[in-house]
Amino acid sequence: MHNVLVTGGAGFIGSNFVRHLLRSEPGARVVTLDALTYAGSLENLKDLPDPERHTFVHGDICDLPLVTTILRERDIDTLVHFAAETHVDRSILGPAPFIQTNVVGTFTLLEAARTAWAAAGYGTRRFHHVSTDEVFGSLGPSDPAFREDTPYAPRSPYAASKAASDHLVRAYFHTYGLPVGITNCSNNYGPYQFPEKLVPLIILKALSGKPLPVYGDGLQVRDWLYVEDHCEAILQVIRGGRPGETYNVGGNNQPTNLDVIQQVCVILDEKNPGTRHAELIRMVPDRPGHDRRYDMDFTRIRTELGWQPRHDLASGLRTTVEWYLANPEWTAAISAQPAYGEWLERNYDQREGNI
Ligand code: NAD
Ligand code: TYD
Repeated sequence: MHNVLVTGGAGFIGSNFVRHLLRSEPGARVVTLDALTYAGSLENLKDLPDPERHTFVHGDICDLPLVTTILRERDIDTLVHFAAETHVDRSILGPAPFIQTNVVGTFTLLEAARTAWAAAGYGTRRFHHVSTDEVFGSLGPSDPAFREDTPYAPRSPYAASKAASDHLVRAYFHTYGLPVGITNCSNNYGPYQFPEKLVPLIILKALSGKPLPVYGDGLQVRDWLYVEDHCEAILQVIRGGRPGETYNVGGNNQPTNLDVIQQVCVILDEKNPGTRHAELIRMVPDRPGHDRRYDMDFTRIRTELGWQPRHDLASGLRTTVEWYLANPEWTAAISAQPAYGEWLERNYDQREGNI
């Protein structure tokens, strides 16, 4: 791993991965390619360790000439693909960008890698695709956890677009021999997460004394994964995973959304004695097609590569809340963007009567 291209490296997981990579691979040079959509920000790439080994390129993964030029001119041997439209609620209100970036964008990267890398032989090169547990659909209360061979059954436009991209990545392995790897992971949380997703949304709303919106009955279950554990899993799969293989990555916990929100409130109460943030919780109309439960069986990555999560939910949430409290400039810069306010209005005003 000498020259690494990280797509979507100005987003939440991508920026954590760039940091993790610069720390873990002292010989690697890293190029971030990111379109800086509403979810991406150069604020996420400040204070990188060893920043002279990092280059930022502002561009779109759907731009084939640009991607091909980067692969050739920077002699990229490892491509780690995070760039995506990622928010389920946005995919419900406007699915088109999800098809463009997640499906056409992934296809464009695969084509660029296939052609740019084929001339010299694929050798030790690696195309790593970051995907989600949402491709597997929704579990009932006693269904077994998702395994790598669980049939795909996506239920939101976001999940369907990620499923399509996973199929394309696997097709390039079987058809062209492109050395790919795929990780499907559960819900991430941690520093630098855009505050449209549950955990940072709740932290920021609670800090400003606003209602905390809980979709439906709040008893949906997610398998929460601390972002640094996820970054380490990706690195281990790139280093030692079998080409063409998929690895599930999970956090080994099964709280309801209400549990998560209440845990965040308790941590915030401790930081501001005398406050009772849970009083802000409001049940609001549900998300259409809301998946009830996700659970990841990560036996394969544990037994083959020795990976398992190091953070449990309680410690990960505490670190996350403390990070948001310690970084008010980041929070202010991100939430001051007009697009963020517009999103809150668009997604939550329709639910307002119930907030
Ligand atoms: P994010 O929304 O925080 O960041 C996405 C990044 O991609 C942004 O920096 C954005 O500017 C960039 N981007 C979007 N469209 C682009 C385009 N056309 N060209 C170049 N860059 C573009 O996302 P995240 O939460 O960091 O997720 C990263 C990856 O992990 C995604 O592929 C997502 O599907 C997957 N994933 C995320 C989670 C999670 O809980 N966040 C869980 C499972 C899988
Ligand atoms: P989210 O962070 O959007 O991730 P995903 O939809 O990919 O799982 O949501 C996590 C869970 O929290 C999901 O069940 C939806 C729920 N949720 C709320 O109850 N209220 C909210 O305001 C948001 C954004 C999510």
